[in-house]
Amino acid sequence: MTPGQRFARLATDVSVRRPGLFRVLRGPLRLMFDRMAPQWDESRVTERYLAPLGAALDAVNGSPRRILDVGTGTGAAARVAGGRWPDAEVLGVDMSPGMIEEARARSGANQRYEVGDASSLPVADSSIDLVVMVNMIPFFDELARVLAPGGSLALAYSSGPNTPIWVPLDRVGHELEARGLTGIQTFSAGIGQSLLAVRPERS
Ligand SMILES: C[S@@+](CC[C@H](N)C(=O)[O-])C[C@H]1O[C@@H](n2cnc3c(N)ncnc32)[C@H](O)[C@@H]1O
Repeated sequence: MTPGQRFARLATDVSVRRPGLFRVLRGPLRLMFDRMAPQWDESRVTERYLAPLGAALDAVNGSPRRILDVGTGTGAAARVAGGRWPDAEVLGVDMSPGMIEEARARSGANQRYEVGDASSLPVADSSIDLVVMVNMIPFFDELARVLAPGGSLALAYSSGPNTPIWVPLDRVGHELEARGLTGIQTFSAGIGQSLLAVRPERS
């Protein structure tokens, strides 16, 4: 791993254990992703990169109307979800203004993008039918807060354990179950892994 990738892994490990400490990592991490934004899509986002997300989305029940892509980067996952469900409204959130600029330049008709922080998402409680995340640090309390009853979370790591931002899926599953999510399913696709979880209609 490059020094930047090692820092991203460290930031992930620290933030999953102690989400409050993300505030000291936010600045350098944002700077790093801002610098990578102009080359991000062309250098990384391929069919194989997105395959694990696709596997989880194949298992989503129903047709989500309100979709949130957390840590959207250049909007790749938002575009995938927006293409699958053209009647949905898709919001992509990222803390890097450079990434959001790139995402807006590539946006489809049913997508919009905002600068925002995944540790304090700019959306109301229980307002999202589908959260998607690719190669992103999960802030579990926020994910549980924003999901509507019956809503789903699809989380993917494009290179499995070799993804710099990576949390083992059994850990992700335990954290989500501790917050009331159920129906955990995991998938392998391409060289990556993904997980789907559901917030029950009644909890
Ligand atoms: C590895 S990139 C993945 C981007 C995109 N999901 C993709 O797969 O192409 C991680 C992204 O998460 C963003 N990010 C990291 N921590 C964040 C946070 N707390 N809130 C919002 N965005 C965050 C970074 O700015 C970066 O764009």
